[in-house]
Amino acid sequence: SQAQELPVKFNFIPESITSPFIDIFPGQNEGMVRGEPGGFVFSREYGRRANEIYQFKPRKDDAWVCTFSKSGTTWTQELVWLIANGCDTEKAKQIPLQMRSPYLEGDYLISPEKMPQEIRECWALEALTKRPSPRVIKSHLPFNLLPPQLLETSKVVYVARNPKDVIVSNYHHFKLFKFHDFKGTLEDFANYSMDGQIYYSPYFPHVLDAWSKRHYPNVLFLFYEEMKQDLRAVVERVAAHLNQTVTEEQMVRVLEYLSFKNLASTEAAGKEKVKEMGIMNEDAGTFFRKGKTGDWKNHFSPELNERIDKWIQDNLAGSDLKF
Ligand code: A3P
Repeated sequence: SQAQELPVKFNFIPESITSPFIDIFPGQNEGMVRGEPGGFVFSREYGRRANEIYQFKPRKDDAWVCTFSKSGTTWTQELVWLIANGCDTEKAKQIPLQMRSPYLEGDYLISPEKMPQEIRECWALEALTKRPSPRVIKSHLPFNLLPPQLLETSKVVYVARNPKDVIVSNYHHFKLFKFHDFKGTLEDFANYSMDGQIYYSPYFPHVLDAWSKRHYPNVLFLFYEEMKQDLRAVVERVAAHLNQTVTEEQMVRVLEYLSFKNLASTEAAGKEKVKEMGIMNEDAGTFFRKGKTGDWKNHFSPELNERIDKWIQDNLAGSDLKF
């Protein structure tokens, strides 16, 4: 079959060279691009290579985890990986998640020499193409930038999270990682988020497009909030979606493995390695930060909250999606 043409054109955003988001490695801030239609914002390197990703071949036995970043991706990747791999919690403990579940567009995010070689090799599209099944692939790209055959070929789990908590979590993320090194306030960050100026924005077209496809047989649409509320039920739904069964003994192990406490302790254990890599600001907290719903209440002023409410309301007008 003939290759389909990428439906989006990427234009360089000149002011992004001085944007507060990607300026940490001297001389390596290449700026960002915006895709039209859709307004999708990402790195310049991605803009150059978006078509390669679009032409990537999904497989029938793949499982994809797709999200807007900070919506519970890592948690869901761990869950999906376990279900796709016989609930092998021992193997999960031995091999870092990044290697078990590669990040499709991850190597277009930071300059290659800043990435550990093993991760760079594992995430390269060529390596992904050759990777044995079952692949558990993570992506933050909206569906219209993913391979066009994806939803009719592979199992996809899409996770959405309350946009207020996404803003707060993302704010900490952009402070934490040196390749973002965001120095502004939460209010600044919320404004950038609502304006669709940060990586992977705009938020609502991303989520609403997935929401409109939630009844596709290959799509399982989840909310972070339901994972918090009843993880066992979500494990069961993911297992059913991937045509797997989970015994009670496996369920107990999987739930223990997926607990915030356990996943956070894995991060703590890998701390020295991360230090060596030098990609995190050490005084800016941890990746597994709080793992709560509604943390935004501790951060937004009434005025900011009102503006965000309006942003949400305007964007969800006419939709049955609710947060
Ligand atoms: P917070 O910053 O609100 O704590 P992503 O993986 O998409 O980047 O999402 C990260 C968010 O998921 C973080 O949110 C993180 O704490 C939360 N998270 C990760 N594992 C979790 C778990 N086991 N239980 C609850 N939340 C979890």
